[in-house]
Amino acid sequence: MKLGVTRELPLDCQSLLAPYFDVIQVEEKGRPMTVDELKDFVKDLDVLICQLTDAISDSLLSHAKRLKHIATFSVGVDHLDLNAIKKRGIRLSHTPGVLTDATANLAWALILSCSRRLKMAETFMREGKFNGFAPSLYLGLPLERCTLGIVGMGKIGRAVAKRGESFGMKVQYYTRTPSKDTEGKSVSFNELLATSDVISIHCPLSSSTRHMFCRNSLKLMKSNAVLVNTARGPIIDEKALQEHLLGNPNFFAGLDVFEQEPKVVDGLIDLPNVICLPHIGSASQWAREQMANTCIQEAMRFASNQKLLYEYTL
Ligand code: DGY
Repeated sequence: MKLGVTRELPLDCQSLLAPYFDVIQVEEKGRPMTVDELKDFVKDLDVLICQLTDAISDSLLSHAKRLKHIATFSVGVDHLDLNAIKKRGIRLSHTPGVLTDATANLAWALILSCSRRLKMAETFMREGKFNGFAPSLYLGLPLERCTLGIVGMGKIGRAVAKRGESFGMKVQYYTRTPSKDTEGKSVSFNELLATSDVISIHCPLSSSTRHMFCRNSLKLMKSNAVLVNTARGPIIDEKALQEHLLGNPNFFAGLDVFEQEPKVVDGLIDLPNVICLPHIGSASQWAREQMANTCIQEAMRFASNQKLLYEYTL
């Protein structure tokens, strides 16, 4: 059997997988492959380990006649055409769980940075403007008196909510699939927008969540709220957010993901009330190694006809 890996992983998959596959091809171009490169790459693979930057479309899969298992190095599956995968009888596994804390911690790094104006304050220091303590310098939100609104109460949403409670925040959430053991109170989307001081997005990207944060929903939020996105860029209409940030200087956004990564809407990064990061939510050493390990173990299980432990139900 032949296995292909579209980017080098933070574990040595060549030697770990050697006993299970006849041929292992690991590509490292220092960038995601183009569609044509990917088409050529998948041609004679039985198993593919891919990234969220690899768009696995129906037309790409028509070039992968032998493919039987895809292990994606991500929890999100929005880069994969799930219907096309199902139609071809290909199995799909992903990496839930191992990146929950890393992503929740990064969401909190953004919540704290935005609510306490860290970008502006740090720029002020670097520009040599600090003349000593001043009573009204960079006043931020008192989080312990604020309401945290979570959109999407899966594993990561709940981990962010738990951290919010330990900061003394009132927690509320909007989710399509409520469960009993969830922190906080379930509210409608519009109520969440209107009454939260901080909103953190943790739902998957789908046709129903694309541009969920559009011009109108942003208008419903408090004018001094904080909006954090560590989920997927297209859940926010980025252009509408930029206009909103320009018109509301006390509104802050913390973004780890963008609508057309790696592109960011012109001028957005330079605004003082936004912090932009390069999709590093899961980037703790441990989490990324565990993500690699999950892909490797699932490929091994597939090759030895064992049950996949992280199979995505199609
Ligand atoms: C994922 O896994 O979906 C994240 O966006 C990257 O770790």
